[in-house]
Amino acid sequence: MSFEEGKFQEVLSEFAATPEFIREVAANFRQDLQIGLRDPKSSSMRMLKSYVGLPTGKETGEYLALDFGGTNVRVLRIKLEGEGRYEITKRVGEPLVVPGEYDYICKNSTVDQMFGFLARLIDEAIDGDHETKFYLGHTFSFPSSQDDLNNAKLIIWTKEFATPGVEGKVVNDLLLDALKKRGIENVVPVAVINDTVAVLLSAAYKQSDVYTGSIYATGHNTCYLEGSIHDPKGFGVGGMILNLECGNFMKLTPNRFDVELDQKSEKPGEQRFEKMVSGRYMGELFSMAVAELLGEKKCDFSAIDMSGIVSDESPQLDKASEIIAEKVGRKLELADVARIRELDAAIIIRSARLVTASYVGIVWQRAGNGKIQKQHVAVDGSVYEKMPLVKENINRALSELLGEDAANVDTILDNGGSGLGAAIAAAMAVE
Ligand code: BGC
Repeated sequence: MSFEEGKFQEVLSEFAATPEFIREVAANFRQDLQIGLRDPKSSSMRMLKSYVGLPTGKETGEYLALDFGGTNVRVLRIKLEGEGRYEITKRVGEPLVVPGEYDYICKNSTVDQMFGFLARLIDEAIDGDHETKFYLGHTFSFPSSQDDLNNAKLIIWTKEFATPGVEGKVVNDLLLDALKKRGIENVVPVAVINDTVAVLLSAAYKQSDVYTGSIYATGHNTCYLEGSIHDPKGFGVGGMILNLECGNFMKLTPNRFDVELDQKSEKPGEQRFEKMVSGRYMGELFSMAVAELLGEKKCDFSAIDMSGIVSDESPQLDKASEIIAEKVGRKLELADVARIRELDAAIIIRSARLVTASYVGIVWQRAGNGKIQKQHVAVDGSVYEKMPLVKENINRALSELLGEDAANVDTILDNGGSGLGAAIAAAMAVE
């Protein structure tokens, strides 16, 4: 059975991200940023203050870093040596979900289970030492409101996390409680930051000309250094980093698959941009479109399957064909496999182009009426790092949108920035 060509072209066109479309997204993004700077409530982005600016690069000392926000929780001991140098002296990590064993992020889990799990990992990272004082930096990667660097109240879960009893709470209080229950009173949390902020701190610790930090992974979000905001309770230099929470950006037109995905998600109406671009949702969009083409009720592709299919460049597409057969329960003919692969690529390319449009919105905003200065956008996350087609399409879209100025702007991978950034934030808070 072959798909009807007209039907295929119609589905494919839903995921087109034309130059005009991404230019409009970049302009709307910039405008929403400007609106948010005047009044965050009027923007679709939350524009959350982080109470931290850039590090000087001279931060030193040993800190604990808790990185919580994706599928794995990590606790690290990191020795900062200044001048961009550091050493990870201990690394502990476990997933929040092991199918069939436990799940700390579902509706049936509890605060005690979730934070007890974090406390156990911290205990492991300090080798059960309940005497020595450890300062802890905490990367907490969800929209949280802050009045200072060390207290963050979870506004709303994202990325389909659903543990009851955490929204509206100060996460440090929950953590301190859990630590206490384990008899740990020597771990002192001193800074809570978003993972995008952590990536920016980490990249800026190591090199100059970085003002924007982004996560392009299970979730998606970006922060940037806003030079016009200074707060006596803030740390660091150059102004204040704003966590945009641009996963919630809404000033762009979703296609019918985006609309349907949003409606059946954990939080309909929220995180519309993230649901169009991030790894948590890309596989679902692809599954919905493929199911429609094949007349199936449901297929279940993940972003990793998408990566496997699209990276198969062999003439017979054996690997792609195998992955598809496994998910749809039957072998398709080569022409159909090729079309599904084309659809897969279109969804990835749309994601990369939309994310780039948001970066350009920030670059334009920072430049104001002046020249676009040399800068690197620091990015961490599996989609950016590993998904085929992403980096080249980011570069292409940067050139399309920035023209000659694209020579001044690039994206750089800041691998593991979430952990390092937390340690840097802790150092900034106590030094
Ligand atoms: C969260 C952000 C986070 C991003 C990447 C989003 O779902 O709202 O706070 O930075 O995921 O982890």
